[in-house]
Amino acid sequence: MGSESEAATGKDNNLLFSINGERFELSSVDPSTTLLEFLRSRTRFKGTKLGCGEGGCGACMVLLSKYDPVLDQVEDFTVSSCLTLLCSVNGSSVTTSEGLGNSKDGFHTIHQRFAGFHASQCGFCTPGMCISIFSAIVNADKTNRPKPCQGFSKLRVSEAEKAIVGNLCRCTGYRSIIDVCKSFAADVDMEDLGFNSFWRKGESTEAKMCKLSLHKCNYEICTFPEFLKKDIRSNMILDPRNFCWYSPVSVKDLQELLESNESDSGIMTKLVVGNTGMGYFKELGNYNRYIDIRYVPELSMIRIDQTGIEIGAAVTITKVIEALEEEDNVRYSPQGAMVFKKLAKHMEKIASGSVRNSASIGGNIVMAQTKEFPSDIATILLAVGATVELMKKQLREKLTLEEFLKMNPMDSNSVLLSVKIPFWHLIYGNNSLLLFETYRAASRPLGNALPYLNAAFLTEVSMSNTSNGIIVNNCQLAFGAYGTKHAIRARKVEEFLAGKLLSVGVLYEAIELLEVTVVPGHGASTRAYRSSIAVGFFFEFFSPFIETNVEISSGWLDGYQSYLLFEDSKVKESYKQLDGVNPPTLLSSSKQVFELNKEYHPVGGPIIKSGASLQASGEAVFVDDIPSPTNCLHGAFIYSTKPFAQVKGIRFRTKLYPAGVSALISFKDIPEGGRNIGSTTIFGTEPLFADELTHCAGQRVALVVADSQKHADIAANLVIIDYDTENLEPPILSVEKAVEKSSFFEVPAFFYPSQVGDLSRGMAEAEYKILSSEIRIGSQYYFYMETQTALAIPDEDNCMVVYSSTQCPEYVHSTIARCLGVPEHNVRVITRRVGGGFGGKAVKAMPVSTACALAAHRLRRPVRIYLNRKVDMIMAGGRHPMKVTYSVGFKSNGKITALQLDILVNAGMSADISPAMPHNIIGALKKYDWGALSFDVKVCKTNLPSRSAMRAPGEVQGSFIAEAVIEHVASTLSMEVDSVRSINLHTCNSLDLFYAGSADEAQEYTLPSIWDKLARSSTFNQRTDLVNAFNRCNRWRKRGISQVPVVHEVILRSTPGKVSILRDGSVVVEVGGIELGQGLWTKVKQMAAYALSLIQCDGTDNLLEKIRIVQSDTLSLIQGGFTSGSTTSEASCEAVRLCCSILVERLMPLKERLMEEKGSINWEMLILQAYFQSVNLSANSLYVPEFASMKYLNYGAAVSEVEINLLTGETTILRTDIIYDCGKSLNPAVDLGQIEGAFVQGIGFFMLEEYPVDSDGMVVADSTWTYKIPTVDTIPRHFNVEILNSGHHKKRVLSSKASGEPPLLLAVSVHCATRAAIKEARKQLNSWSGKDGFDSVIQLEVPATMPVVKELCGLDNVQRYLRWKLAQGGT
Ligand SMILES: Cc1cc2nc3c(=O)[nH]c(=O)nc-3n(C[C@H](O)[C@H](O)[C@H](O)COP(=O)(O)OP(=O)(O)OC[C@H]3O[C@@H](n4cnc5c(N)ncnc54)[C@H](O)[C@@H]3O)c2cc1C
Ligand code: FES
Ligand code: FES
Repeated sequence: MGSESEAATGKDNNLLFSINGERFELSSVDPSTTLLEFLRSRTRFKGTKLGCGEGGCGACMVLLSKYDPVLDQVEDFTVSSCLTLLCSVNGSSVTTSEGLGNSKDGFHTIHQRFAGFHASQCGFCTPGMCISIFSAIVNADKTNRPKPCQGFSKLRVSEAEKAIVGNLCRCTGYRSIIDVCKSFAADVDMEDLGFNSFWRKGESTEAKMCKLSLHKCNYEICTFPEFLKKDIRSNMILDPRNFCWYSPVSVKDLQELLESNESDSGIMTKLVVGNTGMGYFKELGNYNRYIDIRYVPELSMIRIDQTGIEIGAAVTITKVIEALEEEDNVRYSPQGAMVFKKLAKHMEKIASGSVRNSASIGGNIVMAQTKEFPSDIATILLAVGATVELMKKQLREKLTLEEFLKMNPMDSNSVLLSVKIPFWHLIYGNNSLLLFETYRAASRPLGNALPYLNAAFLTEVSMSNTSNGIIVNNCQLAFGAYGTKHAIRARKVEEFLAGKLLSVGVLYEAIELLEVTVVPGHGASTRAYRSSIAVGFFFEFFSPFIETNVEISSGWLDGYQSYLLFEDSKVKESYKQLDGVNPPTLLSSSKQVFELNKEYHPVGGPIIKSGASLQASGEAVFVDDIPSPTNCLHGAFIYSTKPFAQVKGIRFRTKLYPAGVSALISFKDIPEGGRNIGSTTIFGTEPLFADELTHCAGQRVALVVADSQKHADIAANLVIIDYDTENLEPPILSVEKAVEKSSFFEVPAFFYPSQVGDLSRGMAEAEYKILSSEIRIGSQYYFYMETQTALAIPDEDNCMVVYSSTQCPEYVHSTIARCLGVPEHNVRVITRRVGGGFGGKAVKAMPVSTACALAAHRLRRPVRIYLNRKVDMIMAGGRHPMKVTYSVGFKSNGKITALQLDILVNAGMSADISPAMPHNIIGALKKYDWGALSFDVKVCKTNLPSRSAMRAPGEVQGSFIAEAVIEHVASTLSMEVDSVRSINLHTCNSLDLFYAGSADEAQEYTLPSIWDKLARSSTFNQRTDLVNAFNRCNRWRKRGISQVPVVHEVILRSTPGKVSILRDGSVVVEVGGIELGQGLWTKVKQMAAYALSLIQCDGTDNLLEKIRIVQSDTLSLIQGGFTSGSTTSEASCEAVRLCCSILVERLMPLKERLMEEKGSINWEMLILQAYFQSVNLSANSLYVPEFASMKYLNYGAAVSEVEINLLTGETTILRTDIIYDCGKSLNPAVDLGQIEGAFVQGIGFFMLEEYPVDSDGMVVADSTWTYKIPTVDTIPRHFNVEILNSGHHKKRVLSSKASGEPPLLLAVSVHCATRAAIKEARKQLNSWSGKDGFDSVIQLEVPATMPVVKELCGLDNVQRYLRWKLAQGGT
């Protein structure tokens, strides 16, 4: 029984649905309530997470099932519950990950596979992932494919990989998740499945299959309960009076409703189908009446005849795709069916499956028509001459789609009834051919990213009767999504081409016309790039006709598209052997190599991550999953929109407080004795709220507190801040301005790194010099899947308990105490797990918890905050952007003799951890022997949100700077970059010099051997030759390959631990470190089991199962410090080992006595005896690393190979090989996950993620629409990772080394490979311009996005090529 059912009356017009088999019946609800809101606030099913609220992340995915009583069939599909309105699920059944299985009744096979393939780290994305896979399996199993073996489903590998295209994961790097998906596919090659806990290396395929099938395949879950089938009434219409939700069932009903709508002033009505438009337009709470048009038969029909297909406007995109793909369409027209298939293929890249399942074709076109939405559907349907039917009042009108898009935006009383796509037939007879292609240039190849531009071209061509060539009989060219009002037909170009014999000259002239036709609007971003890809697509479509001796035959039609990819059959053959011909669209193979270390068993074993199955089933409790205490209020921040201004007042746009609002908390509410501080580091504090002055756009100014998060968010949007900038200096928004104004943060001398060697001598030794070259590096946002969140509950005697999602509860604790002006013992901060941190939940989590505590203190009620993605992105600050100027001296053999750097770090408004940046940047930069190294690093104070630590803070930039210098030197000398790298790698002596105090003994310097081993295992030299051959033979695609090293210094910090053995022998462990997904708890558990097992009594071999790590509680275990810098896991392990040693020492005399008495003793008995004899069974410790060995170096290397598309600027990572030294890994499964996840996060930084600000310093990439982290289709296609077990390291914790951050730096290999490919493109470009050499020195920005790559390859490369062809005598 669902929690809401008792309240309902069982009336016909109630809202009825089920969740995980439980019945829910509601007699009224606010119609703007989403399914996610309901799940999270009114049910116990909190496994469905809120990650973005806009359809872009997949964390909220659920399975929706509908029952058709006539056919007695259940339809199951995923939807994004954050966009699905609750009223629209009337009569449906909802399944969340909890509904698949749980810890009590048994986990589902999918949950078990997530755990067994080590595919869940923080776990925040995992329930959504599970639902995506479940839906794929359920639907595959409905097909009539052969029955699969036990343990598998009817899913195919190709479908399995794509099951999670719409789900983001920031932790794992996706490889392990793809393995989970594939493990269900009937056609999977078992050898292709990555490392897991189901079988051991070397077992036979049969044995592996057997072990997978041992896990009972219990995915036959009933997705639609019988009771609901019975309860589904013929009339499932909600009572509009209670729901403000209308479901007309005929056009006439709809007309009447719309007419009554006109007379109801003040009521905001919305026609709605899937409501996915809300993901883009965020019309939060704007409407109070909805008209659901899905039940109007005319709007939901699909009709097909000889003339084409007519689709009701409310039909979902998924259903449209199915109809367009119908094999039967060929019956009407073979050419038309081909066009339909291509339309369907394009539509598969719109949004994600879960959005397409509810998004309607009509909704999409209406958004394009009324709100300038950059639609794909409008463009592709424009090219095929689609028409639409509209209804306004009683009038119906048929228009071409082009006329419809051009007319004034439809008003809210007009309805789009249907869309018609005609069948195309050949007009010019058998000697002609109909061609149709669609294109989209987007940062993610498989969708879930709006395109920079899309296009679709339809043409009928014939062989010329008079000459050897092709005539364009007619063509329809459509372009859209490039920053204009709507998609257009390029009429002038079409007219120009009609009847022309295609030639180089004709194409060139057509492109000239195209350039003045496809012109992005003035406000659009990357305008030149967008125009250039229009040309690129156009060229890609028509150029095969001018490049080859074409013949029109059916075979040729198929060859047409791949023509551009491979132009030389020999190279094609070589690649086939090594790589396969076409790069696969998704991860096609991976290898994980490591040696198991059994010395400290169970430490060193690939133990499954603690709590992984709980995370998968959605039972793991994150802060926002804790049920709200009675009277709980919710907060939303109000932030400044000005970088430097006086705050004159804060008020609401409305006269009264908006609905549900209780208070507006600002610095004025800080109690007497308290201080306005929101965060604390060793370098200083940051105010909780701006006082009279704001210091950056995005600074917290106040907190609106309301009765729900939705009301708080709506109210925050209604706030107006009155500013005054008179008599104020202009803000400092750049590092240059900061230098001009001497606006810097002080760097304590002991934090400032030391120069190495004598710069003037190094420069004097140089044969060549590069002087004052400049690089700029951008920022990066954390994109933890769980945004910042906290819950504060006032307790007796002026105390405060705060649940915080933070990496440093101790600092959160002291900040709250100082803000409230209470002793620290009045505050208690509890953290169980964090849904991804990456540094962002360290300093930046403090103000969120502090604001909650302040509001709770002031209002004497519990207050919680869960930041929405936009506000989180605006306030986060992220990675430090910087400007670097370098001068370098070197010899003719590439040996560098001196490097001098001036680095300006943009730190933002407060110190945060920024004074540590010089140390970190230089630390990673020293990975090469520069001869002499001199630098000046300034930490600039600017009017921007303070930048904070993000995974490998400063180190990733330092590593990049080093590679940029090396590449520059190699280009200047025209040498292979790889040999310049090799010659400048450290010797043991130079390593000692550069890393005084951190470099261990010579045999521990493993980089040279890693370097050679990697070159061999990745077949670097052979592949370099192949890359060269590929580049010689391919004009519009170029490849690059690059091998880079990493040397990364980490520091151990003191960390507390506490181990208590309970009476029954079970063990409770507390540590200072926080579980962020990095596997800290798992390693700690292994260590406790190992260290306690040293007591050597019976029953200690299964100690692992007896140990529980519990949440961090700042009053129970103090001095927890920061969980950061990659070393907290090992330090926490060491603290626990110390505790266990104390316990073992205390227990040993008793054990020996009992052994003497009884001959043997088991663990439980020993502990019970110890308990009765009052042995202290709890031990505390603070691990303090020895000063001399607290710093150490980590080594690794990576080879990456990429392919770039010169027409679009798209980069595909073909393959990455990594070798990383983990010492004796504490848990290789966890370390593998860290390496892969960090590397993919690094790909985001180097290739994809742009985090820009506007002229006021306000973050402009503030959503999943504009900020693109890597997805499953942007990771390396072949991804091989080897963990090197470099043996004994006596100063390390059980010989282990860190893995959390250093591998992120290795992603620079992708950037370097891209640069190499671009150089090839430029060489070719210059050859077309008649230049001999080529300007080999290029600065490739970070991130190297599609526009950046294309610009360097030549925005006008097509035009230059055609001009060159013409000059060569081409016609
Ligand atoms: C995460 C995400 C990614 C996306 N990516 C893409 C993409 O890459 N390419 C692309 O083309 N699209 C993309 N979309 C847009 C998506 O296709 C549209 O949101 C969807 O088609 C709208 O359909 P709906 O049924 O949900 O409309 P709703 O949200 O229900 O309605 C949208 C608007 O249209 C009005 N409306 C709906 N139907 C009618 C009608 N028949 N007559 C009059 N008015 C009507 C509504 O009143 C509302 O104003 C994406 C959407 C999301 C959420
Ligand atoms: S929360 Fe719904 S897709 Fe992100
Ligand atoms: S495990 Fe996927 S986001 Fe953390």
